[in-house]
Amino acid sequence: MGKKVTVVGAGFYGSTTALRLAEYNIFDTVVLTDIVEGKPEGLALDINQSRSIEGFETKVIGATTTADGGGYEATANSDVVVITAGLPRKPGMSRMDLIGVNAGIVRGVAENIARHSPNAVIIVVSNPLDEMTALTQLASDFPKNRVFGQAGMLDTARFTNFVAEKLDVKVSSVKTLTLGSHGDTMVPVPSRCTVDGVPLSERLSGEEIEDLVTKTRNGGAEIVALLKTGSAYYAPSAAAARMAKAVIEDSGEVMPVCAWVDGEYGITGVYLGVEAEIGSNGVRKVVESSLTPDELNNLKIAAEAVRSKQADVQSL
Ligand code: LAC
Repeated sequence: MGKKVTVVGAGFYGSTTALRLAEYNIFDTVVLTDIVEGKPEGLALDINQSRSIEGFETKVIGATTTADGGGYEATANSDVVVITAGLPRKPGMSRMDLIGVNAGIVRGVAENIARHSPNAVIIVVSNPLDEMTALTQLASDFPKNRVFGQAGMLDTARFTNFVAEKLDVKVSSVKTLTLGSHGDTMVPVPSRCTVDGVPLSERLSGEEIEDLVTKTRNGGAEIVALLKTGSAYYAPSAAAARMAKAVIEDSGEVMPVCAWVDGEYGITGVYLGVEAEIGSNGVRKVVESSLTPDELNNLKIAAEAVRSKQADVQSL
């Protein structure tokens, strides 16, 4: 049977993700949903009309949904679902400020998705990311490997971009890594960063690296402040779409994602940004790599910070 992916939420993040997924030309169907009547249908028509120009056959279907589950039939039996539903930040807000309002939205979406696509892999991108990923797993009652979140791919891409700009080198020559939360306890991992294979610490001073780390941590907020309404979506959608592609192709790629950690790094029982091998069942395994004592300590601090917030979402 043909491959099907659903993107929940037709804001800029969702619609750009749907477009990228359609343009890969690896799915039969991309379903785009939203609660704003007509919006997903209109965007689907528009994307479909670009098919002959861009040369892809994937069909995009728009479906208006309701909070009580109306319209979700269109999403039935999706192989992958990307949840972008919820509000984005306004200037000055932290991702955590969204927890109350987005928890209600994401819980309902996860329940409806689970009902119609019981075998799907769910990729969560709604904020606050680590908490919404944990909540989606609870509300869907899916195995933990079949629910994971998008953050590390994006934060790592931002870090890479900043390093490439600073050194005026190609982005393809730069490798970086961020772990931890998609928030204040994001953990950039300088010991795993290289430029043309040379450790970043040989190209930049400790202070310069720290500046780029700070810029990375504030990467989303900087864009929110400039846009004044809405948050980033080009880089976030690129990250989410690549993750969905890795699932559908059962690629085994190792990506930084928000995954359930059960013993790795001495951390247990929490959704956290780590590297993981991605395949058709979602997270095949968390990949532990060597960290400096400082980096490991920061990862543990991040785990405890998100653990307490993830406990809160159970009651939201
Ligand atoms: C960002 C949002 C999408 O980091 O979390 O831009």
